[in-house]
Amino acid sequence: MHEELFPVKPEVAAAAHINAEKYQQLYAASVSDPDGFWATEAKRIAWIKPPTQILSGDFTGDVQVKWFEDGTLNASVSCLDRHLAERGDQVAIIWESDDPNVHEHVTYRDLHARVCRLANVLKSLGVQKGDRVCIYLPMVVEAAVSMLACARIGAIHTVVFGGFSPDSLAGRIQDAGCRVLITADEGRRGGRKVALKANADAALKQCPGVEHVLVASVTGGKVEMTAPRDKSYNELCAAASPECEPVEMAAEDPLFILYTSGSTGKPKGALHTTGGYMVWASFTHQYVFDYKPGEIYWCTADVGWVTGHTYIVYGPLANGATTLMFEGVPSYPDASRFWQVVDKHKVNIFYTAPTAIRSLMREGEAPVHSTSRASLRLLGSVGEPINPEAWLWYHRVVGDHRCPIVDTWWQTETGGILISPLPGATPLKPGSATLPLPGVQPVILDADGRELEGAAEGNLCLKRPWPGMMRTVFGDHPRFVQTYFSTFKGYYFTGDGARRDADGYYWITGRVDDVINVSGHRMGTAEVESALVAHPKVAEAAVVGFPHDIKGQGIYAYVTLTAGEEPSEELRKELVAWVRKEIGPIAAPDAIQWAPGLPKTRSGKIMRRILRKIAANETDGLGDTSTLADPGVVTELVENRVR
Ligand code: WT7
Repeated sequence: MHEELFPVKPEVAAAAHINAEKYQQLYAASVSDPDGFWATEAKRIAWIKPPTQILSGDFTGDVQVKWFEDGTLNASVSCLDRHLAERGDQVAIIWESDDPNVHEHVTYRDLHARVCRLANVLKSLGVQKGDRVCIYLPMVVEAAVSMLACARIGAIHTVVFGGFSPDSLAGRIQDAGCRVLITADEGRRGGRKVALKANADAALKQCPGVEHVLVASVTGGKVEMTAPRDKSYNELCAAASPECEPVEMAAEDPLFILYTSGSTGKPKGALHTTGGYMVWASFTHQYVFDYKPGEIYWCTADVGWVTGHTYIVYGPLANGATTLMFEGVPSYPDASRFWQVVDKHKVNIFYTAPTAIRSLMREGEAPVHSTSRASLRLLGSVGEPINPEAWLWYHRVVGDHRCPIVDTWWQTETGGILISPLPGATPLKPGSATLPLPGVQPVILDADGRELEGAAEGNLCLKRPWPGMMRTVFGDHPRFVQTYFSTFKGYYFTGDGARRDADGYYWITGRVDDVINVSGHRMGTAEVESALVAHPKVAEAAVVGFPHDIKGQGIYAYVTLTAGEEPSEELRKELVAWVRKEIGPIAAPDAIQWAPGLPKTRSGKIMRRILRKIAANETDGLGDTSTLADPGVVTELVENRVR
């Protein structure tokens, strides 16, 4: 544990929206008078009818939480229309291509017109308020345009990460009941092409409900177009009007669904609604990044993840920011790319994931030192715990000791950041997400659900609703209640473990459920297992996470073959390729161990605790194995551990 303290520099505190004293005041006010606090904060977005009701519902019973219920608005108006008078010609999106010689500036006025054109196209296809539209696009401006165009007409978007397989895409389209898919001919990443339309075609064989496919031209590559289903995004938008009246939405009308992995079953559609989410996106983006007008802000996430939703699109645009969208990868053309982009566009605020920092650390300091990075003022981290070594490197090498680091803890379900330093207010400890934002009441519970006081370690839960939280699992409210509110009655359970130190700082220790975090992406072990057992040669599979230098956690699979099948290097490769194809490259196992048997209790339950230890090479402390049906299995697995 690295307990070095990095105090807030006085000049940073003086220039910030929030200093230490202001944080204390805001936090106290958010607890003593939440309705008053959020009634004021709600004013930060554009309402058609401002709300008079603030919060109803809590974490008990059927968990029907509603924020700003009688307010009406349109999210795209907060992000676009209301900026036109003051900053219509300011750049809203800087798009940096995978190709370092190509970029584009999109002003708020341009973006408004592009969104309205697509909104009109969607309307002409019969898309109405409440309809679901799937977005399967690379990191191009059309992705943001598509999200906002849906919002404009009240359609619910569900963005699927371009790295997901046809099967994963199909599952999400079916679950959400999408009528329309917006995709592209191909994507570009690290100089290579990604066959998005071909993947979409494969997925759509299983999705008869999709009536229309809009295909954006990104690479100009030749793709198959199936008439009358497939249409050119570019041609239809060019012919559409650049004006479109926004649809008046109730605060609790859905804005989007985003699928996320859990410990069991298929990915869940986390449903976010309009008013509370927009308030949370704007509030957290302004305060955590201490955003000031005119600054250039860059979040390196993909719009396929919640970080891209809240901190590339909705938060920054609600705040009238200039947000940078990057199509490429940190290593292309070389390991200096991030910092070259920072210099090229004079980026002030840079927000990335620990896995990216660790992979760049491995390349040494020279690729960083070859750039100036003088524009940088603030650095951010998200997606997984950042190890102190990576934190210190980020601070020293990337930030030249000058830039505070905000280590932001949150989840798809939370809609936005919940625990994070505020750069002008919070002394930093490398590896700690530090303190809750105003309006956030974390608690640490022991296994029996008792709230622990002071310095403690246990299950991280939240005690009160916050405006940005998900409202339900799309189409399955009982699953929402079961997943998040049944383990500890009356609390939202995050699935994370955490330690709180004597200063009240939170240290996230990682998931305590069967979810693993691979390069900041969540993966349910059950999903990988079911992909493996779908292979005809696999009888049984158990998947666990293990410590991985770059990815944070890697995927370790124990595989039992069907009778008569022999393990081989060829079969190992085949299984890795199989999982990539079934789910997507992010789910590909890093290690496969052939397991003649798995450690099971006499009732047949796989003892994952033991499998995790073996994968982590912590075979000295395997604990009690006496309850196993066949303790000999463990010895065999330990002896044949992979690497
Ligand atoms: C899980 C949520 C937050 C958006 C991206 C991931 C882990 C996230 C941190 C952090 C330690 C973190 C948690 C969480 N996580 N940020 N700063 N420190 N852990 O969203 O896919 O919904 O994953 O990511 O385990 O539960 P997600």
